[in-house]
Amino acid sequence: MPTYIVLLGPPGVGKGTQAALIAESTGLPHISSGDLFRENIKNETALGKLAQSFMNKGELVPDDVTISLIRDRLSRPDCKGGALLDGFPRTTGQADALAGLLAEFGGSVNYVPYITSSESVLIERLSGRWTCKAQGHIFHEKYNPPRKTGVCDFDGSQLYQRDDDRAETVIRRIQVYFAQTAPLITYYRERGLLSEIDGTQPIEKVTGDLLSVLRK
Ligand code: AP5
Ligand code: MG
Repeated sequence: MPTYIVLLGPPGVGKGTQAALIAESTGLPHISSGDLFRENIKNETALGKLAQSFMNKGELVPDDVTISLIRDRLSRPDCKGGALLDGFPRTTGQADALAGLLAEFGGSVNYVPYITSSESVLIERLSGRWTCKAQGHIFHEKYNPPRKTGVCDFDGSQLYQRDDDRAETVIRRIQVYFAQTAPLITYYRERGLLSEIDGTQPIEKVTGDLLSVLRK
């Protein structure tokens, strides 16, 4: 049976950081809807242009587009054993669509670690984040600095600050999270899948808590 993990939590809580570490230790592919959109923006595809118009405002990309993007990605051979989803689903419509999709693959969502934090911590994390241009590796100027300022430790590419990490867009992303994504906390709790994890701890401690949830 494939294993599907949904990482839930607000913008900046550390989903991408943890997903990269968990993917390494579980061998599951890390699928980030935000990274897939950013790849399309970089390649100047029609989907990228559409996604960018929503992302720059801190709004969600419409469900139909997002669901078909994830459907394509989950259909690839590397997802046969399951996947680690980061940033998807983000609405109850997406969660229902995911359940239907995984049923087609003979699976279902197995774990939903919900990483929590306060709003002030999220804002500090996003304002100090630096992302690698080539592959999206994530750093923080204070909490997880690269060895050399402005350069990715893993592939030597340039680090940049995401357009949607501007202060006004961050505030909007957090509002959108509470309005449209937070209902998934109850959605997955009611299905007995949710495990809360304190995301204000140091990165290694959060990883340890995540791995113990996945061993249950
Ligand atoms: P997406 O790219 O998914 O952004 P997000 O959910 O807003 O989350 P972030 O990537 O900003 O934060 P994160 O939780 O991954 O934190 P990170 O690990 O980087 O989505 C972007 C946009 O795309 C959306 O706004 C929307 O428009 C669109 N989109 C994407 N998915 C969609 C969907 N399903 N439906 C519709 N639209 C969609 O960490 C943040 C910082 O904190 C880093 O600097 C890191 O080094 C640092 N850090 C991490 N953990 C710790 C720690 N424990 N202690 C100290 N610092 C830490
Ligand atoms: Mg992320």
